[in-house]
Amino acid sequence: MGLIMNTCTENKWHEVWTRKGTEGGESLEDLMKADGFDTGTGAISVKDWMRTSADIKKKLETEKAFRILEVGCGAGAMLYTFRDSGPEIFGVDYSETLLKKAKSAIPELQGKVCEASALDFDDNMFEAVFSHGVFFYFRDLNYAEQAMDEIRRVLTPNGKIFILDIPDFEKRELCEKYRRDVVYAGEEYPTAEDSPYRHLYYSKEWFHEYGKKHGMKVQTFDQDLESYPMSPYRFNALLTF
Ligand SMILES: C[S@@+](CC[C@H](N)C(=O)[O-])C[C@H]1O[C@@H](n2cnc3c(N)ncnc32)[C@H](O)[C@@H]1O
Repeated sequence: MGLIMNTCTENKWHEVWTRKGTEGGESLEDLMKADGFDTGTGAISVKDWMRTSADIKKKLETEKAFRILEVGCGAGAMLYTFRDSGPEIFGVDYSETLLKKAKSAIPELQGKVCEASALDFDDNMFEAVFSHGVFFYFRDLNYAEQAMDEIRRVLTPNGKIFILDIPDFEKRELCEKYRRDVVYAGEEYPTAEDSPYRHLYYSKEWFHEYGKKHGMKVQTFDQDLESYPMSPYRFNALLTF
């Protein structure tokens, strides 16, 4: 995986996410807000949220799964849409405050506080694993590879992985320009290459290479969410055996 695209050493997103989760109620909208999908470039409508949830269920065939896991589940806004859908629901997040909120909103959730790169589960536990809106907070591509390795470790032999909301490296310049000109117009722009708050971009090739290395088929899909300003710059990746 020789593509070095972001090399920033410091990453302050953990601090940001640990400050969240202590306010608001437990409706879907409240959970989306706690997970940062309420304002600015992060805003997604409930209609698009439910479309994404339906897409995850379909691509991962979650109705056939015994257990599903979300990596970086936050306050549980996406897992909330999986209540009563069949499988047992598991989630991990490195933010203790957000996970506490998720457990309170979804009593059946089996949640653990841990890093995506060190999943606190036994091998072969989940038929389906997804991660929504998380991979761009990782510090670099080596960390992302560790997280993918962990996801594969906890996956059952024929399990499926769906990573969503991935910043497309091919569209990085356009995306950064949009954020700089439209979103942060007149303010200090926090996502410069060396900022501890910058986003990590991935080429689709990175996922294809990962799949090839581990005998998995990879399909990528451009994100298509009308309400989400970041959608034109993001894609989703499905990995199956
Ligand atoms: C934008 S929120 C998305 C939450 C949830 N997936 C959703 O779709 O509503 C990003 C989440 O990723 C979590 N996160 C970021 N980096 C992580 C890491 N390295 N390990 C575990 N969780 C991480 C944050 O704590 C936060 O809860």
